[in-house]
Amino acid sequence: MSLPTSISPTLALFGATGGCCRAVLHRSLQAGLSVNVLARTPSKLTTEFPSTEYPQLTIIGGNIRDAKAVERTLTFTEGTSTKLVEIIVSGVGMRSFGESERTVCEDGMNCILSSITETRAEGAEGDDPKIVVISTKGCSTERREVPVLMIPVYAVFVRIPIIDKRKMETAVRKSGLKWCILRPSHLTDGESKGLAKVRIGVEKSQKGGKSETQSEEIGYSIRREDVGLWIYQELVCGGGTEEWEGKIVGLTY
Ligand SMILES: NC(=O)c1ccc[n+]([C@@H]2O[C@H](COP(=O)([O-])OP(=O)(O)OC[C@H]3O[C@@H](n4cnc5c(N)ncnc54)[C@H](OP(=O)(O)O)[C@@H]3O)[C@@H](O)[C@H]2O)c1
Repeated sequence: MSLPTSISPTLALFGATGGCCRAVLHRSLQAGLSVNVLARTPSKLTTEFPSTEYPQLTIIGGNIRDAKAVERTLTFTEGTSTKLVEIIVSGVGMRSFGESERTVCEDGMNCILSSITETRAEGAEGDDPKIVVISTKGCSTERREVPVLMIPVYAVFVRIPIIDKRKMETAVRKSGLKWCILRPSHLTDGESKGLAKVRIGVEKSQKGGKSETQSEEIGYSIRREDVGLWIYQELVCGGGTEEWEGKIVGLTY
């Protein structure tokens, strides 16, 4: 697999009003990266990230099902040309159990993928972007990814998001792009504990939708700040490392 992106990659973020991607946004802006963010309610971000302080941040108001808004989020203007971003990170997820929310990850990913094709057709330049998505523990159909005590909790409360996230994962795996799927444990708030506290399980994707477990770490929770820190450090900073491409990475304490 080829090395990705530049040392200062351009970024498109979806779901940055949620804790994990907000942490990615914060760290990326501190590092001076150029970031496009799609947000249904931009005011949720403008107080913390004012344009006076972060001129390299562009917030596009819109829904992840709105192709035009997604296309704007995926592109930058450089001189007279339009360029695709180098890295896409999505932490979009259900906010309620409403009917349309149940397919937000699948619909959102399909919209991102078709928007990449559309922007290319309209002449956007640059390499294909790398896609990073936040899925969840419990998506594996082959292994138990959660502590035994948590199995009933996942079966009842995470059943519907898991159906949606599995479909999103399939779309990402079939995209033909470089990708990394993250499956964190139950997410909690609070300050970062640091990457030394984060345990990592790795599944490598194989042909036919199967995967091979390389290492497994089962735990109860992880803080959103540390998911964001891990994404920034391993997949964004300096373009990210090749090590995680084509892999499903479980994150837990
Ligand atoms: N809760 C857990 O314990 C748990 C465990 C593992 C994985 N996860 C997953 O991890 C990811 C990150 O979680 P998080 O807690 O950081 O974020 P979150 O609180 O789940 O926030 C979800 C994000 O998605 C956005 N969103 C939802 N529907 C959208 C739409 N139609 N168009 C555009 N944006 C939309 C929300 O925007 P608005 O602000 O506009 O609503 C928000 O930014 C999510 O996918 C979540 O499902 C959660």
